[in-house]
Amino acid sequence: VIEIELMTIADQRFVFECLKELRGSAAYDQAQFDEYVNKYGLIGHREFRILIGRRKGIPVAMLTCNRYAMPRYLGFGYELEEVVVHPDYQNQGFGKELIHAFFEWIKDDASARKLTVKTDDSVRAARVYGKYFDPVHTTVFAKQLRHL
Ligand SMILES: CC(C)(COP(=O)(O)OP(=O)(O)OC[C@H]1O[C@@H](n2cnc3c(N)ncnc32)[C@H](O)[C@@H]1OP(=O)(O)O)[C@@H](O)C(=O)NCCC(=O)NCCS
Repeated sequence: VIEIELMTIADQRFVFECLKELRGSAAYDQAQFDEYVNKYGLIGHREFRILIGRRKGIPVAMLTCNRYAMPRYLGFGYELEEVVVHPDYQNQGFGKELIHAFFEWIKDDASARKLTVKTDDSVRAARVYGKYFDPVHTTVFAKQLRHL
């Protein structure tokens, strides 16, 4: 069973390792990552949360959860952005447990209106998300602003 907690300074190395799974050609080192976390106050941030999934106290997965205002519903939406099971622990069911644990974690937030997650990985990630989310067919437009 996975338990979700907010990232602490002690988790920064673990998060850095996890993000290597997603970052493509963006090559930054641990010190640059730590500086980013510090500069934007991401530890303990109210709108941008970095959460760690632990099993028996050991970090196995992470996700980022960003909050945005939805004034039309007098509440807030959440979007999962980086969802990663550490490579040492993939394909053991932790991805599913992580999402389930997140649902439990967000349950107490009465202002939460909608939770979304997007992926272009239709094989693995979509398989996990498909168990917990309803598919939405929508067109997303994106413009790359600045590459790292
Ligand atoms: C995507 C990810 C979060 C899934 O976590 P996980 O712990 O590996 O996944 P789980 O073991 O909980 O479940 C994986 C599901 O995908 C299936 N699966 C796993 N690897 C697969 C593969 N190579 N091809 C097809 N299906 C696969 C599993 O069978 C399982 O489906 P099932 O429950 O129907 O049997 C994880 O693999 C990961 O971190 N990947 C790299 C980062 C990433 O791509 N994140 C998503 C960003 S949107």
